[in-house]
Amino acid sequence: MADLLLGQVLSYRGDPFETGEDAARHIADGAVLVEAGRILDLGEAGALTAAHPRARRHDYGRCLISAGFVDAHVHYPQTAMIASWGKRLIDWLNDYTFPEEMRFADPDYARDIAGRYLDIVLAGGTTTVCSYATIHPGSVDALFEAAQARDMRIYTGKTCMDRNAPPGLLDTAQSAYDQSRALLRKWHGLDRLSYVITPRFSPTSTPEQLAAMGQLWKEHPDCLMQTHLSEQTDEIEWVKALFPQSRDYLDTYETQGLLREGAVYGHAIWLTEREKARLVEAGASLVHCPTSNTFIGSGLFDMGLARRLRVGLATDTGGGSSFSMLRTMAAAYEVAQLRHNPLHPAQLWWLATQGSARALRAEERIGNIAPGMEADLVVVDLASTHPIEQATRRAETLWQQIFPTIMMGDDRAIRATWVNGRPVPRS
Ligand code: GUN
Ligand code: ZN
Repeated sequence: MADLLLGQVLSYRGDPFETGEDAARHIADGAVLVEAGRILDLGEAGALTAAHPRARRHDYGRCLISAGFVDAHVHYPQTAMIASWGKRLIDWLNDYTFPEEMRFADPDYARDIAGRYLDIVLAGGTTTVCSYATIHPGSVDALFEAAQARDMRIYTGKTCMDRNAPPGLLDTAQSAYDQSRALLRKWHGLDRLSYVITPRFSPTSTPEQLAAMGQLWKEHPDCLMQTHLSEQTDEIEWVKALFPQSRDYLDTYETQGLLREGAVYGHAIWLTEREKARLVEAGASLVHCPTSNTFIGSGLFDMGLARRLRVGLATDTGGGSSFSMLRTMAAAYEVAQLRHNPLHPAQLWWLATQGSARALRAEERIGNIAPGMEADLVVVDLASTHPIEQATRRAETLWQQIFPTIMMGDDRAIRATWVNGRPVPRS
């Protein structure tokens, strides 16, 4: 039986970085028709209700119905250590992150955190994440199993490291290749699950391991490859010392076959002009992680790049300080303000949905409301708290209604999350 969701409907017919707010389509008294996990139609509530009298109705009043949020770069194993105080990237990794990731040698712990993590993000309206796991194959199994149980479209892969990490977190070029390949064959394309080839970053991989990842990617070209690029200046200096023969940070990946369409680089703050030009030429994706970039003290991403290549938005938990894509949109706005580039709410919302889906090359399936797309949806209360409600009272446009929720909203604004055509039970 079909379901009909009634409310204000926000979808996109284009890219707001190209055509501004006209890229958005707002139906004030709208409806979305869903059946068997797919979006069948969207339109005026009256017309769709009349055309589908037997559909089960879900009246969300003045709430906004949007594509579910897509978080394009996270570390689910860092769930329990989010908001760890006082360190910059390298010390933060050594003092907080690596000890926590060691715990994932225990598959029960991995399962516990994977379930906890997905329940947290679903409560925040996020329906797809692209996550790093740990070096332990069981950590990949745990997230895929938890996602499968929730019917979610999920991307993840074993994080490969063969140097500059504690012995308990190291693999080798060969074991990284073998384990990644076995996981890829086990999971990639099953249900809504996609394997992502995942060398953590150049400082923790030898050139041999990067080459092994490049080889695996060549053998499985339809997978994504994710890694980190130019997040902090100290990290870039370290990369220079470790790879004296490389032209720059991006070159450490490119020479090992890790730069082309489907490459998804997190952070990418301190890029040279050569690196930007190569990324554009290669058709790579970048992911902006604004709460992480301020929390770990990394720098201010240049959103001007969104006009030249695929840019997604992400929490980067637990380097990021929130699981919420609303909070992440707010941080993206603030970072852009510091760069004298006020992002329009239409752009912020697009980044959190279609932009991230495009970065993951999944824009035909998720990140928008259109016939045939997968029915992953979020229903947002635009007056969820008194401070937000009072700020919207004089709103004349949709964007004036939405912006206070972007800047001040949290999980209380998430009225419902739909995954694969079904509402997620509230706990
Ligand atoms: N660079 C390499 N690993 C990480 C990580 O786990 N988090 C962040 N923010 N940056 C990284
Ligand atoms: Zn990261």
